[in-house]
Amino acid sequence: MRGLAGPLSSFTKDSKVLEQKIKPGTTRRTLAYAAPHSSLLLVLLIVVVTGATVGIANPLIYREIINQGILKQNIPLIVRLALLIAGLGVLDAALGFAQTYLATRIGADLVVTLRTRLFEHIQRMPLAFFSRTQTGALVSRLMSDATGARTAFTDILSNVAGNSISVTLIVAAMFVMSWRITLVVLVLLPLFVLPARYWGRLIQGVTRELYDVAGKMSSVMVERFNVGGALLGKLFGRPADDIRAFEAKARQLSAAGIKAALYGRMFGTMLLLMASFATALAYGWGGVLAARHVLDLGTVVALVSLLARLYAPVMGLSNVQVTVMTALVSFERVFEILDLAPMIKEKPDAVPIPAGPVGLSFAHVAFRYPSAAEVSLASLESIAIPDKRPPRVVLHDIDFTVAPGQLVALVGPSGSGKTTITHLIPRLYDVQSGAVRINGIDVRDATLSSLNERVGIVTQDAHLFHDTIRANLTYARPDATDQQIRAALQDAQILDVVDSLPEGLDTMVGERGYRFSGGEKQRLAIARLLLKSPDLVVLDEATAHLDSRSEAALQQALERVLVGRTAIVIAHRLSTVVKADQILVVQDGRIVQRGTHEQLAADPGLYAQLYQRQFATQEDTSAAH
Ligand SMILES: Nc1ncnc2c1ncn2[C@@H]1O[C@H](COP(=O)(O)OP(=O)(O)OP(=O)(O)O)[C@@H](O)[C@H]1O
Ligand SMILES: [Mg+2]
Repeated sequence: MRGLAGPLSSFTKDSKVLEQKIKPGTTRRTLAYAAPHSSLLLVLLIVVVTGATVGIANPLIYREIINQGILKQNIPLIVRLALLIAGLGVLDAALGFAQTYLATRIGADLVVTLRTRLFEHIQRMPLAFFSRTQTGALVSRLMSDATGARTAFTDILSNVAGNSISVTLIVAAMFVMSWRITLVVLVLLPLFVLPARYWGRLIQGVTRELYDVAGKMSSVMVERFNVGGALLGKLFGRPADDIRAFEAKARQLSAAGIKAALYGRMFGTMLLLMASFATALAYGWGGVLAARHVLDLGTVVALVSLLARLYAPVMGLSNVQVTVMTALVSFERVFEILDLAPMIKEKPDAVPIPAGPVGLSFAHVAFRYPSAAEVSLASLESIAIPDKRPPRVVLHDIDFTVAPGQLVALVGPSGSGKTTITHLIPRLYDVQSGAVRINGIDVRDATLSSLNERVGIVTQDAHLFHDTIRANLTYARPDATDQQIRAALQDAQILDVVDSLPEGLDTMVGERGYRFSGGEKQRLAIARLLLKSPDLVVLDEATAHLDSRSEAALQQALERVLVGRTAIVIAHRLSTVVKADQILVVQDGRIVQRGTHEQLAADPGLYAQLYQRQFATQEDTSAAH
């Protein structure tokens, strides 16, 4: 039952999709993408015009064969004209081939341009964008929408020009032969065009729906088939429910597919029917006129033959609306992303932060995470329920200074805002008020590349790309030699682990580095940081409790990192807080205590409590070394 009810019920409820209109300006921007190919487009136009002209020559030759050849028994003329028809056939084929080649080449270039622009633009989006957007939906924009734009674009190029020329030439030739029949045919033309317009809108709606559902489906797949998602699915999942949800999406997609096919078919059928009526009319009325000797036989045959050639271009032209619409829908979806202005932008007069020791200061910083509307597109979030409440302020009046070479430890309960503070330093997010300064330069006035070079972060989950160890490490520094890589691995206390792998540096780390333990991943990330060698390091220590050997290894790795650098460490380990020049205790987005370990441990505040709960138990482990 479901199989039947699914497609049929959705057949009736696409009225909402149809209400959407293409945004003004989309057409102009789309045309701008054709501009760089203007010389190839000109060649294409010449080929198309020649092809269209050759196409209508045949009926005129038929007329000559009948009137001058057959009826007057001029056999050499018949043979010559027959050969001419064959020759034109070859020319027509060659022109058709050239047309396809040119159109697809221009289209292929266009896809490359669109995809590269999208990729570049998406890369510049702030972190907030990625935390709100479904990867699958994004991938679908890059893949299917860019291709959709191409297909339609090339179709338009070949069809609009070729078909309008064909229609003009055919109508002109027919007019010369018999203005009466031509007039009637022209009166019939709106009967072709009006239903075409209606169906064009229906098909446009279905196309949009197809792309939407395809995007949703790839979202589900991307989320479920990455290692993290798959692991979660295995541990907590209800496979039957997942399959059902997936099946529902797959059905929705095929229902939209069925709809698209049916609408397309109805469109074609309607037009073919109109074409049959027109042929009947031409033969009927033309035949009567020929019997009465108003028209000659050759002209009647030529007229019918011309009329037969008129349907395809007229259908093509009424289809143009569909094609143009499909192209515009695809382009609009691409532009929608290109129009999202990245929130974090470099100022035109940005200054580089000079290399060398860095000091850091936070001056009365307040921060809230941006709302969905500020960073993302509703159409990219599958649950497009806008947040009604304004986002909560996460940081209040954060104010501290770190002198060059100092180590500052951030401690505090989970969710208090520690990670958020560190994200403001490399401008993953911008502050709402106050300022973050490096060597006195507001990070919003610094060039993004220098900021990126000066600041290095090891995140809590130490992400690795699905690539070799070498590629993951050199991502931070492409020109690093094997020697430098090995030195960094050595300093990060992970070289022996890498060397014990059969393929050494060329070992694939597996998706997200699942091949390695949490501690190993963290040390690989530290090696990556050492290669990059930033002047300011931010470490988000893993909360996971490490065994004493890994703990010692990590300890040594950290010591290498800290030498000669300014450091902010979100500390979960006693050894780090004890060493810190300054400890900032964060609670509910405020710094509630500050000082060294000795000063704070003596205070009866939050730090003393945290110390009792979190750090004191580690005393045995660190004492062992
Ligand atoms: N991308 C985000 N969008 C909206 N709110 C967020 C986002 N990331 C974190 N928050 C909120 O900001 C607050 C501070 O989070 P943060 O990650 O800075 O805590 P933390 O101190 O690092 O905690 P933990 O010790 O558990 O890592 C939390 O209430 C959290 O819910
Ligand atoms: Mg955190």
